[in-house]
Amino acid sequence: MRIRVLLGAWFVCIGLSLLLFLLKTVGEESSGSKADHSDEQLAANFSPEAAAVFHKRCGACHTYGKGVKVGPDLKGVTERRKRNWLRKFVYASSAMIKSGDPTATALFAEFKQQRMPDWTDLSDKQIDGILDYISIGGPDIKPIDEYDAVTATPTDIETGRRLFNGETRLKYGAPACATCHAVRDDMRGGSLGPDLTGVYFRYQDKALTAFLRQRCSEWKTGAFTSEYLTPKESFAVKAFLRNIALQNRASVPSAEAGGSRR
Ligand code: HEC
Ligand code: HEC
Repeated sequence: MRIRVLLGAWFVCIGLSLLLFLLKTVGEESSGSKADHSDEQLAANFSPEAAAVFHKRCGACHTYGKGVKVGPDLKGVTERRKRNWLRKFVYASSAMIKSGDPTATALFAEFKQQRMPDWTDLSDKQIDGILDYISIGGPDIKPIDEYDAVTATPTDIETGRRLFNGETRLKYGAPACATCHAVRDDMRGGSLGPDLTGVYFRYQDKALTAFLRQRCSEWKTGAFTSEYLTPKESFAVKAFLRNIALQNRASVPSAEAGGSRR
């Protein structure tokens, strides 16, 4: 009996230290190499919308792990404070200071040069999104679509092919790429948009990632559409386009063939 309890405790310990280790390794850049699995999972939970709101609304006064700016460093704030307190504070810190909340008034006294604005135009969901983003170490995580397509597995490429052709539906209901685009060897592609066979090399990884953050028809306006592709879909489609471009290069006898793998 006692042995079983001990064994159980031992497993919990191992589990916890593993978890801590995984959390610690997140954020260490692994560009170029195959991203480790946990890293990918965290990156998949990454919300581009929360990231955008955080950088736009909070970044001017708060750092994440780089110390006090105008307000306190927000790294670890979701451990320092209760979720409920954070929700209320972010929504309307002025009301909390007025009500005499001890933590809020202490912060206010400490950072007296500037006061945190209220964010009453943010919904509960948006505020929770920002808090989740902070608690998973968001600002340190590279979103999955930013991984170089060179790290993609054959499964990723196949996923990308299916999304491109519409065999798998895009999560937010956008029309499949093949509605408007053809790639080599695929007669089914549409012709409203340009042929994408070589586009991966023309854009290169980073620029293509940025391009895929908006719908094709909106990219010129620079509008940020949070509901177009998930970071995972974007990564898969990018991997597919890279693969097509590589295949095409290999079949065209030219000085460039097989060229610049990054
Ligand atoms: C204009 C500067 C400014 C902006 C922009 C700003 N804050 Fe703050 N923030 C502060 C200041 C200053 C404090 C300290 C309390 C005070 O004086 O009001 C603070 C405190 C906080 C705290 C409490 C920190 C702790 O240690 O308990 C949280 C959480 C917080 N801000 C989150 C946010 C979030 C989320 C955003 C974006 C939606 C944001 N802040 C935008 C200035 C800002
Ligand atoms: C409704 C039609 C439509 C759909 C669906 C569509 N695109 Fe496009 N796409 C276009 C058009 C039109 C252009 C040309 C835009 C321009 O140059 O202003 C374009 C341009 C592009 C370009 C730039 C091509 C170049 O040569 O510069 C890429 C890359 C691209 N699309 C990728 C995709 C991917 C990946 C998908 C699927 C996730 C997709 N598109 C879905 C219509 C579409």
